Amino acid sequence: MSTELTLSILKPDATRRNLTGKINAKFEESGLRIVAQKRMILSRRQARLFYKMHEDKPFYDELVEFMASEPIVVQVLEGKNAILKNREVMGATDPSKAAPGTVRKEFALSIGENSVHGSDSKESAEREIRFFFSDTEIVG
Ligand code: CMP
Repeated sequence: MSTELTLSILKPDATRRNLTGKINAKFEESGLRIVAQKRMILSRRQARLFYKMHEDKPFYDELVEFMASEPIVVQVLEGKNAILKNREVMGATDPSKAAPGTVRKEFALSIGENSVHGSDSKESAEREIRFFFSDTEIVG
C-alpha cells in the first residue's frame, strides 16, 4: 500500500444542507487526511471541463447545471490507498445501492445529488487535483 492523494468534492446538495463537517468527519475517521480544501462556486465552463468525459451521457447537462448551481468544497485527501479508500467511504454512486455507514447512504438525495465526488483512478486523481490546486496549496 502506498500513500496517495485523491480529489474529493462536496457537492451543492451537501453544502446547502450544511454537511461539510459531518462528511469531513467520515473522511478523517477512516484515516484520510484533508491536506487541501477550498469552498468555491464552479462556473459552468469549469463544470463542463471537469466532467468532459461524461459529455456524451444523457445526464451531462443536468450534472453541469447542478455542480455550478451553489457552492462546492474541493479537497485533496491523503492516505494509504486514498483513491480506493475514499470510494469506500463515499459508497456507490446510486445512494439506494450504497452500503450502510457510507457518505452516500447517509446523506445523498439521489444519483445526481449524491453529495460527494471522488477520483476513480490514479490518472483521474492527478488530473483532477491539478484542475483545482497548485502544489503550494497542498500541505500534508
Ligand atoms: P460523480 O462521482 O461526481 O461522477 C459523475 C456524476 O454523474 C456522478 O457522480 C453522478 O452525480 C452523476 N450521475 C451519474 N449517473 C447519473 C444519472 N443517471 N443521472 C444523473 N446524474 C448522474
